[in-house]
Amino acid sequence: MELERILHRHGFGSRKACRALIRSGRVAVNGENVDDPFVDIDTNGLIFSVDDVSWPYREKATIVLNKPAGYECSRRPIHHPSVYTLLPIPLLERGLQSIGRLDEDTTGLLLFSDDGQLNHVLTSPKHKVPKIYRVQLKHPGAPELVQELLHGVLLHDEPELIVAAACTLIGERELLLTVTEGKYHQVKRMIAAAGNRVETLHREMVGGFRLPADLAPGQWIWLEPADLGALQEVE
Ligand code: URA
Repeated sequence: MELERILHRHGFGSRKACRALIRSGRVAVNGENVDDPFVDIDTNGLIFSVDDVSWPYREKATIVLNKPAGYECSRRPIHHPSVYTLLPIPLLERGLQSIGRLDEDTTGLLLFSDDGQLNHVLTSPKHKVPKIYRVQLKHPGAPELVQELLHGVLLHDEPELIVAAACTLIGERELLLTVTEGKYHQVKRMIAAAGNRVETLHREMVGGFRLPADLAPGQWIWLEPADLGALQEVE
């Protein structure tokens, strides 16, 4: 594929802007500077760089961010900065969207992708992809709380009981809770309906993919094909 087209597809601006960028000598391919916009590049395993920042070639781009508290998942936030301010401009330009949303005060695993099919699989309740949250509770948790969440709680405006797919007390006031839907404030509402209150909420896992322990809050990484498979695991 022509280098100019590759840059354009990866969010580096119009074809004309990409041509100028390449001609200015700021682009390298597999470590070598290239200033011909029309050179044909093998995209298989390609890593190019712009101003010494590396970009893997991706037909579809999916990344994971360790969301810090104090960011809204909207592109037009009201009270806090947007999570989109934590991403580089080319990823925004190529239209990455968050896969589901986390509340402003929720931290942890937040995915972004331009792959509509992946977005659908991970967010549709039909696919039952588990999402695991670590919950700090206001009041000590008891086995009855776990039983109630596993049995199901009735939420306002929901016709049926909402059931936790798994729930384990891991400390006096700490719980791991697995849900397969992504309803508005779902975890907070479930815990409130069971008579307790969420103090902090952190998403650790989606499907079989765990937030990498060495990914600091506010940092993001590309997902590899094996990670994309893990994300869609339902057992
Ligand atoms: N459930 C909530 O209540 N908030 C979140 O951010 C995610 C799940």
